[in-house]
Amino acid sequence: MPSEPWWKSAVVYQIYPRSFADSDGDGIGDLGGVRAHLDHLQALGIDVLWLSPIYPSPQDDNGYDISDYEDVDPVFGTLGELDALLADLHARGMRLVMDLVVNHTSDEHPWFVESRASKDSPKRDWYFWREQPNNWTSAFSGSAWELDEATGEHYLHVFSRKQPDLNWENPDVREAVYSMMNRWLDRGVDGFRMDVVNFISKTPGLPDGATGAGWRQLGGEHYVCGPRIHEFLQEMHREVFAGRDALLNVGEMPGVTIEDAKLFTDPARHEVDMVFQFEHVNLDQDGTKWKPFPLDLRDLKRSFGRWQEGLAESGWNSLYWNNHDQPRIVSRWGDDGEHRVRSAKALGTLLHLHRGTPYVYQGEELGMTNMAFGSIGEFRDIEALNHYAEAVAEGEDPAAVLASMQPMNRDNARTPMQWDDSPHAGFTAGEPWIGVNPNHAEINAAAAIADRDSVFHHYRRLIELRHDEPAVALGDFTMLLEDDPHVYAFTRALEGTELLVVVNVSGEPASFAAIPDAEAWAGAELVLTNAEPEPRGLELGPWEARVHRR
Ligand code: GLC
Repeated sequence: MPSEPWWKSAVVYQIYPRSFADSDGDGIGDLGGVRAHLDHLQALGIDVLWLSPIYPSPQDDNGYDISDYEDVDPVFGTLGELDALLADLHARGMRLVMDLVVNHTSDEHPWFVESRASKDSPKRDWYFWREQPNNWTSAFSGSAWELDEATGEHYLHVFSRKQPDLNWENPDVREAVYSMMNRWLDRGVDGFRMDVVNFISKTPGLPDGATGAGWRQLGGEHYVCGPRIHEFLQEMHREVFAGRDALLNVGEMPGVTIEDAKLFTDPARHEVDMVFQFEHVNLDQDGTKWKPFPLDLRDLKRSFGRWQEGLAESGWNSLYWNNHDQPRIVSRWGDDGEHRVRSAKALGTLLHLHRGTPYVYQGEELGMTNMAFGSIGEFRDIEALNHYAEAVAEGEDPAAVLASMQPMNRDNARTPMQWDDSPHAGFTAGEPWIGVNPNHAEINAAAAIADRDSVFHHYRRLIELRHDEPAVALGDFTMLLEDDPHVYAFTRALEGTELLVVVNVSGEPASFAAIPDAEAWAGAELVLTNAEPEPRGLELGPWEARVHRR
């Protein structure tokens, strides 16, 4: 398949450097720690490493508030170490994708410092300044506007007040961003994961919001896939990506619809290669992430089914359960008790066999779970801390607020990577910046690698299957059993090969007898399963997953 882009059969691994591995004992993960664990990534078989932000930053939002796009924060290491990591990865045949945040900067970035200095600053217009705020709210609680006492005007921040939004209407802003991106590509990096990149175009005049439009904040309809978003991304492509080979550009896009995503990822339009959409991770909530309800599997089928179909002819999906903003999937939609290993494998199988590029978030390959946070003092994330303060100030019961925050808070994903059963899980020789999950005594990389039946080895086989079986990367997708509340089933077909994927997404026995041709399928080659001994027949045990081929 020489004409297909390489990333269709690739798997990406996300590292959140703060929480991955600490090489210098300060309790915070760093580039030295990443370099020390490349064998782990290679053993898993991944193709691309996506590194969450390592640029200099006040760390108000753990690096998603960048104060210098051209360097590495000393807490993570040096530019020299980043070059060394890049060389290590390339020597192992892997690529490096950098996280890039250009919807906003840190308020400590020199551009913003200059912008806020006076109303006549040449960079005043690089950000949004107004005498009177509009009614937009911030993703991290409260108004999206902050008063600057010195000049008496307010600036816009869709995220924290230390993350002022850049004004992409100003051509100098765009030109500065593109030239910075070009310097990174010239340095050898293989692409970008563009943070909330569908927020960069705002409705001129910044009118009041009414609905939020697919994104939970008031005002969202004026910047989620705003009026000039396609124009800006096409310009970025011309100025940065055109004429360069073998890169990956993935846009994180909260609130993106299938119709938008088709346009963003149509190769003929030259915008981005794939997007992160949020529809499936919003199925267990309604407007607020703090009151989740159980997932109805039929909703997941409907949602994934529509995305698979919508991007079947042109465009491409990203596939993910986890990242640094989502709780751990085995705790969320699996069973992190009795069936932890089985359900982690089942959910991994379900996701990876879809059409699209799968993303594995650090620790997902170990079946790492959510953390039980005992008090507000154990949280580190600005989203959680601000929400708690706001809710308590409004008179809510602190214990109830704390309990409501357990399932969905982002710190669930940010507890340290569990390397072994030593006191800090092998993450650091110092005091970790955030608590280590006590279950690392049982759940850790050393134990998983030694156990042929671990989640790790199952993920390794899933990745191998994508590399070896073209139907996984490129086959047509057909959803089956749409109305079954427990069994998730679909086929993939490419030329003469057909795969059947059946997953029991429940702790009760189930059957796939209702599938067309079920008997014949049950007798077909079994390519992959999480069941022992090798299953046969039409009955599925709790959390059983199978991939048959014929
Ligand atoms: C993205 C990041 C998230 C961050 C936000 C603001 O959603 O994934 O971690 O807080 O953008 O940059």
